[in-house]
Amino acid sequence: MEGGGISDIIRRLRRFFGETILKLEETRAIVTGGASGLGRATVENFHAAGMRVAVFDRDAERGQDLCAQLPGSLFARVDVSDEASVAAGLAAVQQAFGGLDVCVSCAGINVGIKTLSDEGPHPLADFQRVIGINLVGTFNVLRLAAEQMAKNEPDANGERGVIVNTASVAAYEAQIGQVAYGASKGGIVGMTLPVARDLAKLGIRCNTIAPGLMNTPLFEKIPQKVVDRLVEMIQFPPRLGEPSEFALLARHIVENPYLNGETIRLDAGIRMQAR
Ligand SMILES: NC(=O)c1ccc[n+]([C@@H]2O[C@H](COP(=O)([O-])OP(=O)(O)OC[C@H]3O[C@@H](n4cnc5c(N)ncnc54)[C@H](O)[C@@H]3O)[C@@H](O)[C@H]2O)c1
Repeated sequence: MEGGGISDIIRRLRRFFGETILKLEETRAIVTGGASGLGRATVENFHAAGMRVAVFDRDAERGQDLCAQLPGSLFARVDVSDEASVAAGLAAVQQAFGGLDVCVSCAGINVGIKTLSDEGPHPLADFQRVIGINLVGTFNVLRLAAEQMAKNEPDANGERGVIVNTASVAAYEAQIGQVAYGASKGGIVGMTLPVARDLAKLGIRCNTIAPGLMNTPLFEKIPQKVVDRLVEMIQFPPRLGEPSEFALLARHIVENPYLNGETIRLDAGIRMQAR
């Protein structure tokens, strides 16, 4: 499959001269949920490495503010759960960057509702909303991103692109009230290997990061007493993870050509208790 643009010409030259290592300066990435928290740190890390980065987020104000500080970056107002919205974002990336090499999905939401409580059964609409954004949204983005990556000229390793998803330790040990969130993240873990298998012949890798407790705006809303109790479950280092530490792993996954089909916990050894 032939692609276009300067990045593909450089890839072809590299292949000719036998270079296998991905060069970050000519790598084009999208980061969903890139306006805040883990996604934002990833955008900043990639940009500092010289990559072309597009922020896909439904929060236009924060996304535009961020991109205004990062020369050469692009903001697209995208709802990951909406086909047309993601397709429009990818068309803007194609236009601005000439193609796509890396797709990091960080967009996600959470609700705290029990399966059955004094208020009745878990509202189905809330369950569907969380699954729709976290699980269906992640799949929606990666399938359309893969379509773009498939057009790339492969590098000397035969690689055309890299997908990085974000699950959570809640995929394995979600707490009371996290049934929708846990199910959505478990689905992301479950699709990591089949996506990697489906895309192997195209030279596109797919991996997932399962973070523990990370210091993002999400935690600002949680009372300090609750945060302290959660932190007690962490082994070492005994603190929340920093978004920059998530970004380091996302970057490593992009750079390490032998990492594929895997979910990596980034959690300082935490195993969440029921509450
Ligand atoms: N912070 C943690 O402790 C933690 C732990 C495990 C997993 N995670 C996961 O990491 C990811 C990022 O979390 P965070 O803490 O950085 O959250 P955050 O709330 O700081 O950022 C999430 C971003 O996603 C965007 N977003 C939400 N729904 C969207 C949609 N439909 N379309 C496009 N953008 C949308 C928001 O506008 C926001 O900018 C989430 O998937 C979350 O579940 C976070």
